[in-house]
Amino acid sequence: MSVLQHQVDVRGAAPYRIHIGPGLLDDGNLLTATLRGRHALIVSDANVAPLYAKRVEAALRAAQPELRIARHVIDAGEAEKTLTNFAGVIDVLANLGATRDACIYALGGGVIGDMAGFAGACWMRGIDVVQLPTSLLAMVDSSVGGKTAVDMPQGKNLVGAFHPPRAVIADTTTLRTLPPRELRAGLAEVIKYGAIVDADFLQWLAAHCDALLADDDASLAEAIARSCTHKAAITERDPFEHGDRALLNFGHTFAHAIEAEQGYAHGFNHGEAVAVGMVLAARLSSVLGMATSASADALRDLLQRFDLPVDMPTGLVPDALLARMRLDKKAQASGLRFILWQGPGSAQVVADVPEAAVLQALRS
Ligand code: NAD
Ligand code: GLY
Repeated sequence: MSVLQHQVDVRGAAPYRIHIGPGLLDDGNLLTATLRGRHALIVSDANVAPLYAKRVEAALRAAQPELRIARHVIDAGEAEKTLTNFAGVIDVLANLGATRDACIYALGGGVIGDMAGFAGACWMRGIDVVQLPTSLLAMVDSSVGGKTAVDMPQGKNLVGAFHPPRAVIADTTTLRTLPPRELRAGLAEVIKYGAIVDADFLQWLAAHCDALLADDDASLAEAIARSCTHKAAITERDPFEHGDRALLNFGHTFAHAIEAEQGYAHGFNHGEAVAVGMVLAARLSSVLGMATSASADALRDLLQRFDLPVDMPTGLVPDALLARMRLDKKAQASGLRFILWQGPGSAQVVADVPEAAVLQALRS
């Protein structure tokens, strides 16, 4: 295998393989390796479909000429991760006559992966889903681990299911058409892994910042593989987030509140909100005496080097964000739960975080 190709296995009750490498979308045998039935539905968005859907369809057809293939394309963006679009996918499956052995190919970023994955979890109580992530964020995070969901106006990912994919196939050449802003958003989630479980990876990222921002193929492939290895290890230990899978939500309580307050269609994308969320979570950790302010500042500086936002967007009201956090899935009846930081490579789930400390972190 070359430095551009990697495989990561996710073990456990529903094992699957993550394939990372250039040109994989044209590999019909790989795309159909886990296929069991006669129906395939490619779900994609209006940016990604014109670039890649035909190629995927051609590869599927070449490998399995008898396959009934449908294509469903929605508008792009977080504002489309809705129950309405979920219902649209279900309609297409019904019209296709998709049987229980049908397969959904989720071709796109995390919005498509989460929404199409949720449709796959629900149609006939669960059909196969193959994730074909085309954004860096989807390659390193959302396509792996089986969390699927749609957003509600009241909050992010409020309706969803755990539904692991049958395979994840990340064709790294698709990153060449990814807008630079979206590449940086994916790097925020990559930095997250270093922050919570791997101090050496955080140092590697600092050393490879320029190469990653310049789309260097080998550096990106290594960053994706190392991120997927961490996500695989955590999600196979704790597939349903009863324990330390929650660490993957570092920065996300703040991020989800920011995204919901901004109404999804405007302002930060998910990765940018996570960058600011990690800065705020590190600051909250320092307010609570768990991390030094120097390490919180160092994390902020690293995110800034990757050209990611590190400050709260103007116009957002701390009390309104706090109200959003009370509805976050990580909150419990007893109070707010946060992933707090203890310095490079170390994080912890903390319950009953005082709201006053959260407000202090938001206001400072
Ligand atoms: P996205 O799906 O909106 O993609 C970002 C943008 O890039 C979109 O405009 C998309 O059309 C475009 N795009 C994607 N690939 C492209 C390519 N190769 N070329 C050109 N354009 C391309 O957003 P995202 O950042 O990929 O994912 C964010 C979503 O993922 C959020 O909804 C978030 O909640 C979710 N998420 C889920 C998990 C999980 O475990 N399920 C984890 C992290 C994030
Ligand atoms: N992105 C958080 C998780 O997969 O658990």
